[in-house]
Amino acid sequence: MVTPAQIRIKEAHSKEWEEYKQRILEIEEIFDPKLREEPETIKAFFDDPQAIVLVAEIGTNVVGCLYAAPIESNLFLRGLGPTKEYKTFSDFLKRDSNFGKCNTMYESSLAVLSRYEGRGIGTALDRELARVAKDDGYKFITAHNAPDASLHIAEKLGWKKVEECKNWFGTGEDYCYMRLEL
Ligand SMILES: CC(C)(COP(=O)(O)OP(=O)(O)OC[C@H]1O[C@@H](n2cnc3c(N)ncnc32)[C@H](O)[C@@H]1OP(=O)(O)O)[C@@H](O)C(=O)NCCC(=O)NCCS
Repeated sequence: MVTPAQIRIKEAHSKEWEEYKQRILEIEEIFDPKLREEPETIKAFFDDPQAIVLVAEIGTNVVGCLYAAPIESNLFLRGLGPTKEYKTFSDFLKRDSNFGKCNTMYESSLAVLSRYEGRGIGTALDRELARVAKDDGYKFITAHNAPDASLHIAEKLGWKKVEECKNWFGTGEDYCYMRLEL
């Protein structure tokens, strides 16, 4: 049994990419291939000083991770897409009324190894994202959540629904665009 005290959340930076790469890519396998980030995209989050990368560790094990970047970032260019309406995922984020104000951090990915789920690690990662983003001067964080544990965590931490996204970016699933005021 892992107690919350044994979970350590830390920010990861460019120089740590090689150290974390393999374990992060293993966690990324949780995602459907459609939603999985390419290694070079994840590395770009590590390399971008405006992005926030958090890892959850238990001892020397990496058991969860989170990547976020300002909504204006081009880090999402190689993510989902294209659809009929949007050429890139970044075009999709331009729908946010705060786009261009440089005040919003977008949580692109949150994942915890399945054998460690349900122990508060996802919640701890989201809480730390709010703390770091606020510290960096951001006013909001946003994310797209499927109606599952990630949406439950967001609602529990006070995120509010901005809009429902039917067949989110062509995935066939309905997501909610959620925002937390910091
Ligand atoms: C989403 C995810 C990161 C959550 O991590 P976690 O460490 O299990 O999260 P926590 O233990 O902090 O909290 C999970 C909460 O969701 C609840 N939950 C679990 N499954 C749920 C579901 N299908 N629907 C709603 N709530 C659910 C749990 O009961 C728990 O609630 P509580 O805190 O009120 O007790 C993890 O499940 C995951 O990696 N999923 C696959 C990837 C993914 O979908 N990521 C999100 C989109 S980017």
